[in-house]
Amino acid sequence: MDSSSDLIQNHCKKGIWKAALELEESERIPLRDEKIKLFAGNSHPDLARAISEYLEVPLSRATVSKFTNDETRVQIEESVRGYEVFVIQSMCYPVNDSIMELLIMVDALARASASVVNVVAPYFGYAKQEKKTAGREPISAKLVANLLTVAGANRVITMDLHAAAIQGFFDIPLDNLFALPLFEYFYKEKGIVGSDVVVVSPDAGGVARARHFAERLNATMAIIFKRRPEPDKNEIIEIVGDVKGKRAIIIDDMISTGGTLVKGAEMIKSMGATEIYACATHPILAGNAVQRIIESPIDEVAMTDTIPIPDSALHTKFCKISVAGMFGESIRRNFYNFSMSKIFF
Ligand code: R5P
Repeated sequence: MDSSSDLIQNHCKKGIWKAALELEESERIPLRDEKIKLFAGNSHPDLARAISEYLEVPLSRATVSKFTNDETRVQIEESVRGYEVFVIQSMCYPVNDSIMELLIMVDALARASASVVNVVAPYFGYAKQEKKTAGREPISAKLVANLLTVAGANRVITMDLHAAAIQGFFDIPLDNLFALPLFEYFYKEKGIVGSDVVVVSPDAGGVARARHFAERLNATMAIIFKRRPEPDKNEIIEIVGDVKGKRAIIIDDMISTGGTLVKGAEMIKSMGATEIYACATHPILAGNAVQRIIESPIDEVAMTDTIPIPDSALHTKFCKISVAGMFGESIRRNFYNFSMSKIFF
């Protein structure tokens, strides 16, 4: 991680990002001594700790382990009767274990008479399987939504769902936060704004996000059209928009194999972009994605920590932007029934 990353981290720690969100100090009421408890599964302890520090509410005790037969074992170690609880668990690698831990924790908390069970899932897994594209395929995202609800969740807080329509898979409230304001702040701090910057959507599905981002940076925009000949493979068909002589920022919801990003960057470079930046909310970084990115023409990748960032990405090309403050703030606002619109904007 480079010094610009440190800069942003320090800003996040000092709470300067809140100024960027224009939160009013008068709305800040300490959560200490309220009937709130935070729990975390095993998927992302660092983020859970950072959220707990932001809120100044300690993580409550729970054992989340395995029986000898590999089944997930959960024991909530303190009373939650009448408390509003927030379970922090990203649905990341090992995905199925992370989801199972979450479901069983929610079940245990609901059965233990928590007043409200909130699921805080910074990364919502199985989101790419949100519709049938061929016969006899599942809609796995809907199945995960059903499982959470049946387990006893009363609300879900997540970020940058792969498809916004997944919100409709739930009949309980769902807050789909956006990392975009954090990326906006990041690039503005670095002076990467203005008409010589082009924001690039890596596919047709990301056009609305890229357009919104381009408007915020006073930049122009371009779109990559790609097709997927098979799962986890992609081919670029064409790029619409002018990238020649410009600083390009590719914005995506996730980096999985890195194929979309690297192929897009190569194409943009060959078309005359001078500098190539990329930002993505969910750093899945599967397989050899990190190495592919390091060897690519991309100058720098900014990623949030909705998923633990592997040590292999401790390289100057990668910058981490923490979402802990944003999730902490959304927990606080939900608990006090404050409007969430200042976080969503
Ligand atoms: C696609 O619809 C997504 O927005 C991402 O572009 C994609 O999931 C990234 O996957 P990969 O890194 O494997 O190309």
